[in-house]
Amino acid sequence: MFQPSQLFTPKPPPPRFLFVTVNRRCNLRCQHCQFWTRDDADHDTYILPSRTGELLHEYQQLSRGQGSVVICGGESMLDPEVYFGVSETCRRLDLKSISVVNGTQIQSPEMAERMILSGPDEISISLNSHRQELHDETRGKPGAFHQATQAIRLLIEARTRLQRPSTRIYVMGLIFDQNYQELDAFYHFVLNTLGADKLKLNFLQPSFGQRGEVDPFYAKHCHVDPDELRKVIDHCDQKYALGSIPNCATKPSCISAPCNPARINTKAGVPAFKLQNTSATATNATSWWMNTEPPDFVSLTVSRVPP
Ligand SMILES: C[S@@+](CC[C@H](N)C(=O)[O-])C[C@H]1O[C@@H](n2cnc3c(N)ncnc32)[C@H](O)[C@@H]1O
Ligand code: SF4
Repeated sequence: MFQPSQLFTPKPPPPRFLFVTVNRRCNLRCQHCQFWTRDDADHDTYILPSRTGELLHEYQQLSRGQGSVVICGGESMLDPEVYFGVSETCRRLDLKSISVVNGTQIQSPEMAERMILSGPDEISISLNSHRQELHDETRGKPGAFHQATQAIRLLIEARTRLQRPSTRIYVMGLIFDQNYQELDAFYHFVLNTLGADKLKLNFLQPSFGQRGEVDPFYAKHCHVDPDELRKVIDHCDQKYALGSIPNCATKPSCISAPCNPARINTKAGVPAFKLQNTSATATNATSWWMNTEPPDFVSLTVSRVPP
């Protein structure tokens, strides 16, 4: 005998994210990531741009216009025609697209304007610290800090010049033992000195692209005192009126959101923080992947700008 619940099983929600991996190589040499050891040698097996276009269209139908396309790499902007091909298709389909890049390919006003006019709706530039030496050291190349901050400045200027306030320009920060006590200065630099819309924080995870068992950077730098980190984040939350951490536990919409403090397991050991992973959990369950497995990172978003 059928139960009514069996007859009317609710449809699963549409996938929230589609990850489109443009490439698997990189021009930096980050100690916490191994994409730069790869070379796209299997490029011939990647999905063709025409098929990518079809998949984007299918995704738009499937997600009923609600989903977001994440354009990722490696350093995805090393293949600008593929990169902009995806973002422009998304624009045509009225699909939101987002992307995290290292900033090295946005070094002229012209490229910044191209990003604002035909790139993703949400652009994040990665920055490991407000201190040049720490960013350059962990990113494995002198000059990386200058290029990342230059990219952020050029994007903000281009957005103003072109009067496209809807494009979001974020900074994606990596949090590890050498910088978590300096978050106040990091926020100040990102929000006030650079003028970005938001600082997003990724807690250090075992290296992306890891192929062997040994992960020296993670082993050396994952130790963060959770109580101390909580104190620093609370302090920043107050000081920069970020607003998302203390309030979100009381808002129904935040029950499953990444910033819910109930999901911060401050005593979990290593990694010290277990946060709801917006992108990975949603996509692991429902989405499909082009070319490669998803990056498995955990992120905490705190913002002074409403999403
Ligand atoms: C894999 S990168 C790809 C995009 C681009 N190459 C970049 O670095 O912005 C995406 C984001 O993941 C972060 N990331 C890389 N390795 C990580 C790790 N081991 N733990 C946490 N986040 C990491 C980077 O800092 C960057 O913000
Ligand atoms: S984190 Fe980004 S910039 Fe650094 S090696 Fe990985 S892909 Fe390249």
